[in-house]
Amino acid sequence: MDFFPFILSLFLVLHLSGQSVTQVEARHHHHHHHHKHHRHHISKLFVFGDSYVDTGNIKRGLANSWKEPYGITFPGKPAGRFSDGRVFTDYIAKYLKLKSPVPYSVRELMPKHLKYGMNYAFGGTGVFQTLFSGPNMTTQIDFFEQQIKDKLYSTKDIRNSVALVSVAGNDYTFYNVKNGSVQGFPSFVASLINQTVINLIRIKELGVKKVIMSGLQPIGCLPQQTAGTSFKQCNETSNTILASHNNLLRQAINKLNQQTNDTSSPFLFLNLHDTFMSVLNHPTTFNIKDKLKPCCVGVSNEYFCGSVDEKNVKKYLVCEEPKSAFFWDSVHPTEAGWHAVYNKLRITNALEPIYY
Ligand SMILES: *[C@@H]1O[C@H](CO)[C@@H](O)[C@H](O)[C@H]1NC(C)=O
Ligand SMILES: *[C@@H]1O[C@H](CO)[C@@H](O)[C@H](O)[C@H]1NC(C)=O
Ligand SMILES: *[C@@H]1O[C@H](CO)[C@@H](O)[C@H](O)[C@H]1NC(C)=O
Ligand SMILES: *[C@@H]1O[C@H](CO)[C@@H](O)[C@H](O)[C@H]1NC(C)=O
Ligand SMILES: *[C@@H]1O[C@H](CO)[C@@H](O)[C@H](O)[C@H]1NC(C)=O
Repeated sequence: MDFFPFILSLFLVLHLSGQSVTQVEARHHHHHHHHKHHRHHISKLFVFGDSYVDTGNIKRGLANSWKEPYGITFPGKPAGRFSDGRVFTDYIAKYLKLKSPVPYSVRELMPKHLKYGMNYAFGGTGVFQTLFSGPNMTTQIDFFEQQIKDKLYSTKDIRNSVALVSVAGNDYTFYNVKNGSVQGFPSFVASLINQTVINLIRIKELGVKKVIMSGLQPIGCLPQQTAGTSFKQCNETSNTILASHNNLLRQAINKLNQQTNDTSSPFLFLNLHDTFMSVLNHPTTFNIKDKLKPCCVGVSNEYFCGSVDEKNVKKYLVCEEPKSAFFWDSVHPTEAGWHAVYNKLRITNALEPIYY
């Protein structure tokens, strides 16, 4: 298996089970006959996971996200996001009408930094140990718990907040590198889902209103997996192997919602796999020209987007129009890619359940 030779990754998808919709509608019908849904006001966003949602936690010097040409579209210079511009977190914040929450690693925490929540996600991390030794998801939740204990947020703030989680890709990369056995794989997936469930329950019990868990993106369509076909075809073998992750995760989240007596379904699974595929199958609908070919590539196999040689000479090439490419580097979408994913989620009302 050859999932993730590269280290930094992160994902998110939204999908509401039919049952939750029915529950919400039934309740709505009962309480507010003929009136519009009462939308809860969301005041803060808390973010956990990897590079698909990290907005600058990983330290300078540890990742290419702090090097040119990352950040050229937004904010105009490298700022720790694994893209030319905005990432998934920024779009979810926009949906909630919030500013993107500051990274936990911000040097000096001031009251103004707490206003929109906090981003605890670190590129390269996972549920378990990964190739990169950043804080795993458990440790990220510890950070959140400590800040609650330190009374940085009020109980009311937490109750009106949403958590966004994007994690697992780096766990599969690590498994692939460290073990890679096909026989051991199903039990690895099972233990990963089990630990993820423990983490999600913990976040919920800290008081947030809703926990959004993104599914795994189609790993076989990432440029690192399609380079062998000159970025022409997704690797269906990889996509099929990893489908079990999303299936088990969706089932686990349905079960979590059933187990709570909260008719508002506090856990939300975002089907990023299908969302990515919808965009990749209809790229022109989203003004995307290059669907599998990444915008920024190393000049040869030993280099990546952002690489320079010992004389500081660039060893990568950037496409002319980042806004017409879906992928930025070998694993991460461009801002345009994330924008398209966000639009697809909105068109399908996949994010609506956040408010109810
Ligand atoms: C597709 O992925 C599988 C498993 O992840 C790997 O064994 C295979 O070599 C890949 N195929 C191509 C064409 O890269
Ligand atoms: C997360 O990291 C901490 C600190 O390194 C470690 O003690 C813990 O076992 C890890 N948790 C998981 C679930 O791997
Ligand atoms: C690693 O692979 C072996 C088989 O080669 C398997 O028995 C074992 O459970 C695997 N370890 C993990 C952590 O999945
Ligand atoms: C996952 O959890 C289920 C139910 O709690 C348990 O039956 C199963 O053995 C666990 N699997 C692993 C691999 O930890
Ligand atoms: C849900 O409600 C049932 C019946 O009122 C109760 O027995 C059960 O303990 C409740 N479960 C939770 C998780 O609160």
